[in-house]
Amino acid sequence: MKIFSFYTNSPLRNFNHCIYCQSTDSFYVFDPLDLKKIEELINTTSAKSIYLLNTHNHYDHIGQNDDFISLYNATKIDVYDQQEIYLDNDHYLKVINTPGHINPHYCYLIRKKSENVGLICGDTIFNSGVGNCKNGGDVEQLYESIQYIYNLDDEITLYPSHDYFETNLLFSLSIEPQNTHISKELDKYNTYGYSYKKIGDEKLYNPFLRLEQLQKLAQFNNMSKKQIFIKLRSLRDNW
Ligand SMILES: [Fe+2]
Repeated sequence: MKIFSFYTNSPLRNFNHCIYCQSTDSFYVFDPLDLKKIEELINTTSAKSIYLLNTHNHYDHIGQNDDFISLYNATKIDVYDQQEIYLDNDHYLKVINTPGHINPHYCYLIRKKSENVGLICGDTIFNSGVGNCKNGGDVEQLYESIQYIYNLDDEITLYPSHDYFETNLLFSLSIEPQNTHISKELDKYNTYGYSYKKIGDEKLYNPFLRLEQLQKLAQFNNMSKKQIFIKLRSLRDNW
């Protein structure tokens, strides 16, 4: 099994993610946007079956579905919460509904037997941030979904749908100016560009995963973790 991920250069700074399984010659594409680049990737394989999966129904995630399906005679898999999709003998996807940005919003946990490998997380969690709740979302649901992701293994690599890393880090720095992990990540981003991060990395600088630490700050004094999360989302919306 191989995961292909790339940045699309779209105005919304989207990533596209794909999985190729050599033993079954199957190619899975999540929220296809840059069809030219996806074609180049498919052509590097001997894939015979092409599948389409979506995380959620926002236009930059489903807008190319019809073109993609007709181009490859692809099969769209309509998923449901807790579904298991077998990729090959060793790997499968576990579908998890993580509402909040919109409902439903499906994340795809990539598992190798009982080991969690990665999370295709759409617009639920971003590097140093979380999805907004402006287009059909619910911030209290998002809080619960982010708690769920927080409690997965720290070693899971995140595959988010957008690169908002730099702006999110600048917001994070405005919340925790003394947190040197934030400034270090900002330096790394500005020097080397984007790199994929694990859930454990995010706990060092993503304020939405640092609610306990934020409780010690004066501006969040006497607030519950959920109240801090809701306030952070509102501060980020108006930042
Ligand atoms: Fe979205």
